[in-house]
Amino acid sequence: MPTYKNILSNRYTLSRSWTMEVAEKAGAYQQARIALTTLAPERVKSEVEAANIRGRGGAGFPAGMKWGFLPPAKEGQDVYLVINADEGEPGTFKDRTLMEKDPHRLLEGCIIAMHAIGAHKCFIYVRCELELAIARLEQGVRDCQARGYLGARPFGKDWAMDIVIHPGAGAYICGEETSLLNSLEGKRGEPRLKPPFPAVKGAFGMPTIVNNVETIAAVPDVLAMGGAAWSAISLLPPEMKDGGTRLYGISGHVKRPGVYEAPVGITLRELIDDFGGGMLHPDRPLKGVIPGGSSTPVLRAEDKVHAPDPKSPLHRWHGKSHLDVPMGVDTMRGIGTMLGTCCAIVMDSSVSMVDAARNLMKFYAHESCGQCTPCREGTGWLANVLDQICAGRGKAADVDLLVDISNNMMGNTICALADGTAMPMLAFVRKFRKEFLEVAEKGLPSGARLDGAIRAQLVGKEAA
Ligand SMILES: Cc1cc2nc3c(=O)[nH]c(=O)nc-3n(C[C@H](O)[C@H](O)[C@H](O)COP(=O)(O)O)c2cc1C
Ligand code: SF4
Repeated sequence: MPTYKNILSNRYTLSRSWTMEVAEKAGAYQQARIALTTLAPERVKSEVEAANIRGRGGAGFPAGMKWGFLPPAKEGQDVYLVINADEGEPGTFKDRTLMEKDPHRLLEGCIIAMHAIGAHKCFIYVRCELELAIARLEQGVRDCQARGYLGARPFGKDWAMDIVIHPGAGAYICGEETSLLNSLEGKRGEPRLKPPFPAVKGAFGMPTIVNNVETIAAVPDVLAMGGAAWSAISLLPPEMKDGGTRLYGISGHVKRPGVYEAPVGITLRELIDDFGGGMLHPDRPLKGVIPGGSSTPVLRAEDKVHAPDPKSPLHRWHGKSHLDVPMGVDTMRGIGTMLGTCCAIVMDSSVSMVDAARNLMKFYAHESCGQCTPCREGTGWLANVLDQICAGRGKAADVDLLVDISNNMMGNTICALADGTAMPMLAFVRKFRKEFLEVAEKGLPSGARLDGAIRAQLVGKEAA
């Protein structure tokens, strides 16, 4: 296994890594000082653009491009930076490690980003269950204020800056950026129609950049290394513009579940075998892997890349197993799934894919905000049909009904929760149709139900 350099997580193993003293001794705030005292905002923006950071929150949108969507500064108009630290996607627990083990990396990234986009205020919207993360971020903000890194003149610059830690209230949908903004404003956490996008009209009606924790935590090292060098860490071809290093999560039936840092572009096989230590039970082969949080369609080892056209961006991996394709935003899309949050859930042969799907659909039915009929009705309907199938009260036509309901949800709603429900549902049925038909006829075989630990990872709750 090649050894990769830890960058985002290089302070994780230091004793009391979350404290200002330890983080600062290890280099924290050097880049913020340089940026605020010597670099023009445009220069910072161009380094971030050159770094080719694809947003780490799930959609993979280029961070530099997003920052470029801000309208020109206007007298009397505020600009906000909002950090999405809601991390509610089942199977995803990477941002949590950054906030708990190295909150100063995120706070430094926020200071630099505020400088770049011309913001005085940043809100970090944190999932409320992450109490330790919230406490450490709050302490970090107090330490920054005491040292003059935040406040009226951060690093002596005449540009006031403030960071507010805002705990959410436990709703998955508040991770969707516009729902998050409504919640931040004290309104019901429901997604807004886009456009206007937050960069044009966001928090409190003002231009707002919403970025994921990991996206912004990368910014200090982007400046330290230079954007082009940071981008070149990626193992993907440069033309894919998917740069840098990432935090990969892995959970489920592997020996060493956890969060590991590696360049963009390692394969799922490396993640499972090298970082995850291989399958938990050697006699139970891999059945399916959800590559990047529960909204991403499941993959199987036996499926191969089909890209015979030499002009296809995936041609160089033609004929390879899906597990041997480098993980990137566009490569994963090319094989019919998504990179998402880059946190994989591994399921071995003991897992019933029908029950796994049922479990996920129950989660989405519970979390739909209910604004759009296809989502409100569709998520609950999928869960109910799967309940019937698992109980042995289904029929073969119900399997087609799952497909039909999902197809009617896709692309017909305000936010991506509905697509994030329908896409994995369609993949489960397409790839495990025989199993769905068998269960529809006979119900779940005894002993095939998900064990508590896997169920917990799929629904993001504590094991029963
Ligand atoms: C239902 C739903 C939940 C989401 N949850 C999160 C989340 O917990 N954290 C996150 O960063 N992005 C989440 N997103 C994506 C955000 O809407 C947004 O794309 C992201 O915060 C942008 O940051 P990035 O460009 O740095 O990735 C979610 C999207 C949807 C549709
Ligand atoms: S798609 Fe679902 S979660 Fe998103 S706005 Fe519509 S009803 Fe709400």
